[in-house]
Amino acid sequence: MSAGTRPTRVLALETSCDETSAAVLSGRGDAATLESLVILSQDVHRIFGGVVPEIASRAHLTAVAPVVRQALRDAGASLGDVDCVAVTNAPGLVGALLVGVSFGKSLAWSAGLPVLGVHHMEGHLFATSLEHAEAVPPFTALLVSGGHTLLIDVEAWGRYRLLGRTRDDAAGEAYDKVAKLLGLPYPGGPHVERMAAAAPDDANRGRGAPPLRFARPMLRRDQSPEDDDYYDVSFSGLKTAVLNAVRAEVRAREGAAALDGRVVTGAALPDPVRATLARAFQDALVETLVEKTARAAERYVRERIVLGGGVACNQTLVRAMAARAAAFGATVYAPSPRLATDNAAMIARAALFRFEQGERSPLGLNAFASMPLPGLVAH
Ligand code: KG4
Ligand code: ZN
Repeated sequence: MSAGTRPTRVLALETSCDETSAAVLSGRGDAATLESLVILSQDVHRIFGGVVPEIASRAHLTAVAPVVRQALRDAGASLGDVDCVAVTNAPGLVGALLVGVSFGKSLAWSAGLPVLGVHHMEGHLFATSLEHAEAVPPFTALLVSGGHTLLIDVEAWGRYRLLGRTRDDAAGEAYDKVAKLLGLPYPGGPHVERMAAAAPDDANRGRGAPPLRFARPMLRRDQSPEDDDYYDVSFSGLKTAVLNAVRAEVRAREGAAALDGRVVTGAALPDPVRATLARAFQDALVETLVEKTARAAERYVRERIVLGGGVACNQTLVRAMAARAAAFGATVYAPSPRLATDNAAMIARAALFRFEQGERSPLGLNAFASMPLPGLVAH
């Protein structure tokens, strides 16, 4: 039977960063069923406060076979039941990607199956549709992860208008760096969100508290769609603003000498002060992302906004986006944390679309640290 008359079953691998993941998915068009998803997170990087590339590659190397075996077992499938082996081949840590790409190609070759390389960010675009049947094009997408911040108008699957991106730090990266400044563990996003929620209100801050409001980066009322920063974001200045506020707090408590020749950390600052800083940082970042996304949705008259990437776990962002979207009649769809952060289910879903388009990769498929999103159209 041809792939057109029965559902296609995809086995997908994802090893672009610090999760080793495999999934089995079958379906046709937008009717896709996730049959299994295994995600092994590499906790070892917490010790180092960030992902150590060689350690990530080696951890993928030990985990990849058992993770794939478990995904097939959970789906009650064998390689013989699979139509295509999909694997993330860009963007990401090259050494980490190479493990998945090599393993995926070997599997496909030994089983006589086609292999299909998938762009990691196209995976994030598809993730929410696995849980929300309405999260399908046309929609405005905001992808916010540790390595990328992309604002995309999705006219159809495979037709993407890249409207905006970060000029420097990604949203997740900004969270992780601010977490480090405040003495919070890696990955910092959830810790900063939790700490921000505990911030005292203005009346309780007392004298000498840091300013509660940081400037909104690249957000000005006089911007117009013709300006090249109308949709772009930038978070490195915001991070520096947090650093300066931390330094001011440390100086006020310990004297100027405390700043000499040391890496300044806010780890020892009182909790209400750290919480106030976390809240001010998050308010600025969230408002910027919400306004830029609203600009895109209003300009292209989209009724749906789809969030993706690890920062889409942030409930403050999701709630603020939903409230802003409601003002112009749009609905916001966010994935659950398991599908927001890196996983192979989203890679399988993107692969199903590409496979049905007739795409296949050669066995020479390579891995790349960066690569433009496929399907870009001019705007
Ligand atoms: O998409 P992802 O799992 O990996 C990449 O492709 O980068 O995103 C990881 C990022 C990290 O920077 C992490 O701090 C952030 O997502 N993150 C959050 C939250 N949960 C995870 N950021 C803000 N608030 C959260 N609740
Ligand atoms: Zn990701």
